[in-house]
Amino acid sequence: MPRPLVAEVDLAALKHNLALAKQQNLQAKTLAVVKANAYGHGAVKVALALESDADAFGVASIEEALELREGGLKAPVLLLEGCFSEEELASCERQNFWVVCHSDYQIEWLIRYLSTTDWRPQIWLKVDSGMHRLGFDADAVAGVMEQFSSIEGLPTPVMMSHFACADQPAHPRNEVAQSRFNPVKTNLSSFANSAGIFTQATPADSWQRLGIGLYGGTPSELGLQGLQPAMTLKTAIIALRDISPGESVGYGATYTAESPRKIATIAIGYADGYPRQAKQGTPVLVNGVEAPIVGRVSMDMITVDVTDLPSVSVGDEVIMFNEQLLADRVAKCCDTIDYTLFAGLTARVPRRYSE
Ligand SMILES: Cc1ncc(COP(=O)(O)O)c(C=O)c1O
Repeated sequence: MPRPLVAEVDLAALKHNLALAKQQNLQAKTLAVVKANAYGHGAVKVALALESDADAFGVASIEEALELREGGLKAPVLLLEGCFSEEELASCERQNFWVVCHSDYQIEWLIRYLSTTDWRPQIWLKVDSGMHRLGFDADAVAGVMEQFSSIEGLPTPVMMSHFACADQPAHPRNEVAQSRFNPVKTNLSSFANSAGIFTQATPADSWQRLGIGLYGGTPSELGLQGLQPAMTLKTAIIALRDISPGESVGYGATYTAESPRKIATIAIGYADGYPRQAKQGTPVLVNGVEAPIVGRVSMDMITVDVTDLPSVSVGDEVIMFNEQLLADRVAKCCDTIDYTLFAGLTARVPRRYSE
């Protein structure tokens, strides 16, 4: 029998989530963000499954973009951070990737490169609306556009920006961000990520960028809002024992039983991407019933207190998160966000797909 750990991905849930996002803004096209191996869900599988529904796909690097092409994806692919070196532009031309431009050095590379070729990519010009991570200040945009105007035949760039606080819809920075972006918005603009799509009115967006919502993660403090979690991370009990009061469990003996306890050992650990920071009491589902993690998460195994469950056996199913036990809730017990639970899943976790 193989190790029982598997991440099951429901492709129908992904399609549902994409359709739901599209309904939020019927005017907008939707870019499906599949960087970081589609937030752990498997980039090629996810992109191919959505190729006829999404208008384009977003990745973080040329390597991720090439993986999609090699996997057979024909749809447009946007490099969300643009190129990391001038040399990457030749690859972008061969594959007709779209590129974000967020800094002067990228403009220099582009202008130099485009003077040697007829290729005219769709550029997304990034504007810093207050996150101060990437992008041009709004008042620098006119100068950048002036530089682009020297390149004959260049398609009008998409103006893009990124919310810093869209997951907190009432955060005052959201309005500030919108007000900084408004003056440079054109009829080809893109602001909303998932939280923006589901909580901030951005009707002027002609492109919306759907990441966590595609996977049925929780985009904002307003909850799932009809999105369906696409991933079930599932394993099984591989050992069971009864321990006496005063006995401890796991590395560092961080948990000590105060009464007789039944402890199940399950096949998943931090080398699979499950956070070592998971606190005592972080829930899992054993045969569909919640039970708490006790002791430290180790590299390949985790220990769970199953004393209160009616009957448990080696081989019983254990779910780490799914639509019943949201990754968002588990993440909170690990002082993190569901993005990291998904994106952190390592290569040794087999992915299995269903429609
Ligand atoms: C520029 C950009 N747009 C969109 C997204 C998708 O964000 P989310 O997963 O919150 O929808 C990301 C993700 O980090 C991003 O960097």
